[in-house]
Amino acid sequence: MSAMAEPHSSLSTTLAGVHLTGPLVSAAGTGGTATELADVLDLADFGAVTTKSITPEPRAGNPAMRVADVPAGMLNAVGLMNMGVDSFLSGTVPSLEGHGTTFIGSVAGHSIEDYVRVAAAFDAVESLPLIELNLSCPNSSTGRRFTDGPDELAEVVGEVRKAVVRSRILVKLPLLFETAVPMAAAAIEAGADGLTMINTVPALSIDVEDRTSRLGFGHGGLSGPAVHLPALSMVQRVYAGVARDAGVPIVGLGGVRRWEQAAAFVLAGATAIGIGTTLYHDHRAPRRINRGLARWVRAQGCSRLDELVGQVRLPS
Ligand SMILES: Cc1cc2nc3c(=O)[nH]c(=O)nc-3n(C[C@H](O)[C@H](O)[C@H](O)COP(=O)(O)O)c2cc1C
Repeated sequence: MSAMAEPHSSLSTTLAGVHLTGPLVSAAGTGGTATELADVLDLADFGAVTTKSITPEPRAGNPAMRVADVPAGMLNAVGLMNMGVDSFLSGTVPSLEGHGTTFIGSVAGHSIEDYVRVAAAFDAVESLPLIELNLSCPNSSTGRRFTDGPDELAEVVGEVRKAVVRSRILVKLPLLFETAVPMAAAAIEAGADGLTMINTVPALSIDVEDRTSRLGFGHGGLSGPAVHLPALSMVQRVYAGVARDAGVPIVGLGGVRRWEQAAAFVLAGATAIGIGTTLYHDHRAPRRINRGLARWVRAQGCSRLDELVGQVRLPS
């Protein structure tokens, strides 16, 4: 870790029992497989770096175009393009040491067995103290997504829980409205140690001249500024509705570009803050956001960021 990246001590935190030097977390899939962002920024600016979602087998991903610029955000249908767990373990895991940050292994698949297999493999890797379940994938045996209902969610989380003995499990949720609290409760009940929210939001962009989708896959997932306020609302509802009393931390993720949005996630109930799309165009954002948060903590009369978690005042 370089001296310049020395984290602000008021910002260190504990996520699901794992000490992080800072509250910022790079989002799954937005920084290569694991360490590629080190080419353009200091990974120590992140308390944790999330890997690309890894499946049991290698996956080629979706046809081009895979990403499109849209007003207030980015649309992507990358598909679960990744090298597969065996190559990840032999090729990537050895490179995780010495970056001054903590790594979160992101797991994906198309069956409960897929999740169990990758999570169990990650559990054996000391440099992956946290595992994140990316559950927004269709279950090939039912055609439903693992996040379609509390029963599907509880089943996959429960099976992973049984297979994982060392790592802490973060469950990543999509944007949910009325069902946000019961779904979060189901994840916690089944053994989640933390919750990450949100994933991209289903979206479609149409080129009206061509009458085609702007993405090769058709529909895609929206990220960036457009999703920030809905994500913030969900974090606050889940924090107040179940996570605070259960003592389960939240990683607030969606559309963060500036420290003010990170601070808003903290006030809404987030212990850590994810950054994804912003990393594509603003590599200095993590360092700037850390600096802004540290100043904000002092201006609020606090000595630690943790003191401000969930402290938004809303009408009852
Ligand atoms: C190009 C791209 C690839 C992504 N790949 C993954 C992935 O592999 N696994 C996952 O859980 N989320 C993935 N995401 C979702 C992000 O982790 C994040 O949940 C979402 O982009 C919202 O955060 P943001 O607005 O800060 O980008 C991806 C997002 C983008 C833009």
